[in-house]
Amino acid sequence: MSVAKTILALGAVVLLVGAESCDRTITRVESTKPLSCADCHNASSLITGKQTEWATSVHGTGTAYLRATSADCAGCHSGNGFQEMVEAGENPSQVETGQTDPTRQDCRACHMIHETYSMADFGLTTVKPVAMFAVEGATFDGGEGNLCATCHQPRREFPEPENGIITGISSHWGPHHGPQSAMLLGVAGAGVTGPVSPHYGAVDNTCVGCHLGATDNHTFEPEVATCKRCHPEATSFDYKGVQTEIEDLGDQLGALLLNAGLINENSEDGHPTVTEAPVDQAAALYNWLYVMHEDKSMGVHNPEYARALLEEGLSRMGASAAVTH
Ligand code: HEC
Ligand code: HEC
Ligand code: HEC
Ligand code: HEC
Ligand code: HEC
Ligand code: HEC
Repeated sequence: MSVAKTILALGAVVLLVGAESCDRTITRVESTKPLSCADCHNASSLITGKQTEWATSVHGTGTAYLRATSADCAGCHSGNGFQEMVEAGENPSQVETGQTDPTRQDCRACHMIHETYSMADFGLTTVKPVAMFAVEGATFDGGEGNLCATCHQPRREFPEPENGIITGISSHWGPHHGPQSAMLLGVAGAGVTGPVSPHYGAVDNTCVGCHLGATDNHTFEPEVATCKRCHPEATSFDYKGVQTEIEDLGDQLGALLLNAGLINENSEDGHPTVTEAPVDQAAALYNWLYVMHEDKSMGVHNPEYARALLEEGLSRMGASAAVTH
């Protein structure tokens, strides 16, 4: 037994994560028995192992936390803004103050570090179901993935047209980066709803099941080994060519949007170049942004819904999708 494992065992009460997750190897230790500092801060890699992975992740390297000086962004973009929001029982749109010294999406954002100085400190700060503040009637309830969905949810729904025109389009229009929870649920696109992804029900702890894998990998990058548990024949994330198919459909739609002048070749992140558009064009643009620039899994999160969103976009732009399913 490694030093770290011995310490975890000393934590006494060892629970399996969720009743159904007998296929996970890491167990969550929830003992509140107080430990000494040296039980955690010692020669083992209990902390440093996760720190090293986290430091290479986008949570550890990105610059999104800098935006958390603004109250509108603080709840999702900074660790300390998130902690305060969760403690206050607020959703991201209810946060009223920005952070003077914003922190990254760090250990303290997700874990209860130094709250009881026991193994319960590694418990998650929230696993409450997430009532999506921007999507009426939608609730994400995916076990430990609820932690992720609290931040990785859309900020906007497709707006109502006025006289057939959608106004208020800006360079950062769209559901907002991080709509992955809505994608799993099959909501928040323009003109199409559902189906719910098979991965929402099948994968224990949803986001956490795929993005941390069996070893609680803190790079937050999924591994093909996880897919193989259910799709033994998978050799890459492009299982059954679904990512290739979605990318092709998205490129077809992107070309039509470019022709119509809704985006331009220089807008690498797909930033719209118009401030208003006829509702059909706006819907096509919205769905393209959602799938191609914001969800970013190229169909893996919800293959059928991603396909339906792009096909809706193509048909709104007057083309029909040239694909076989
Ligand atoms: C984005 C959220 C997130 C961040 C940031 C994060 N973790 Fe985690 N961590 C998790 C999740 C989710 C698990 C899996 C929880 C489980 O298995 O119950 C986990 C598990 C762990 C475990 C294993 C606990 C156990 O009981 O098996 C350790 C240790 C840990 N994290 C340490 C850290 C450290 C140290 C940091 C900062 C360097 C950190 N984590 C940052 C989400 C996060
Ligand atoms: C249950 C495990 C655990 C115990 C017990 C524990 N710590 Fe920590 N400590 C952590 C984790 C996890 C971090 C966060 C590491 C990071 O941010 O990368 C941390 C961070 C720290 C840091 C770095 C600065 C900071 O606050 O992030 C110091 C200093 C520290 N602990 C001191 C102590 C002292 C002193 C004690 C005893 C009174 C103690 N710790 C008990 C897990 C523990
Ligand atoms: C406190 C809010 C918050 C929580 C909680 C959170 N994230 Fe994130 N996540 C972010 C932000 C903000 C970014 C973008 C960081 C940047 O670019 O600086 C991000 C980035 C990511 C990325 C990289 C995306 C890219 O563009 O490459 C992945 C993957 C990710 N998160 C997965 C997860 C998973 C899985 C969980 C749950 C275990 C989780 N996140 C929990 C806010 C959060
Ligand atoms: C509901 C939570 C939430 C709120 C509120 C939010 N964001 Fe984000 N944002 C995210 C997540 C999650 C990501 C990372 C998603 C990914 O990479 O897939 C992100 C990424 C971004 C990115 C791309 C990464 C970067 O920093 O370059 C920008 C730009 C951004 N947000 C701007 C903002 C601004 C500005 C605000 C406030 C006006 C804001 N966001 C409010 C969740 C949120
Ligand atoms: C079925 C497994 C699975 C589930 C469940 C899942 N993801 Fe993913 N996710 C993936 C795969 C695979 C990719 C694409 C990775 C690639 O192509 O490099 C991805 C991509 C992402 C990205 C973009 C990363 C990047 O590098 O651009 C983010 C952010 C993300 N997922 C967050 C989440 C969140 C948040 C949840 C839960 C709401 C979630 N995922 C649920 C497998 C999953
Ligand atoms: C816990 C089980 C589970 C895991 C893990 C899982 N999937 Fe799935 N996946 C399913 C189920 C169930 C379906 C729906 C039935 C089917 O098509 O096999 C599905 C369907 C799919 C489809 C649609 C297939 C089609 O015929 O259109 C793709 C693509 C996919 N998964 C990719 C992935 C990838 C990539 C990963 C790893 C990142 C992954 N899955 C991990 C259970 C899982």
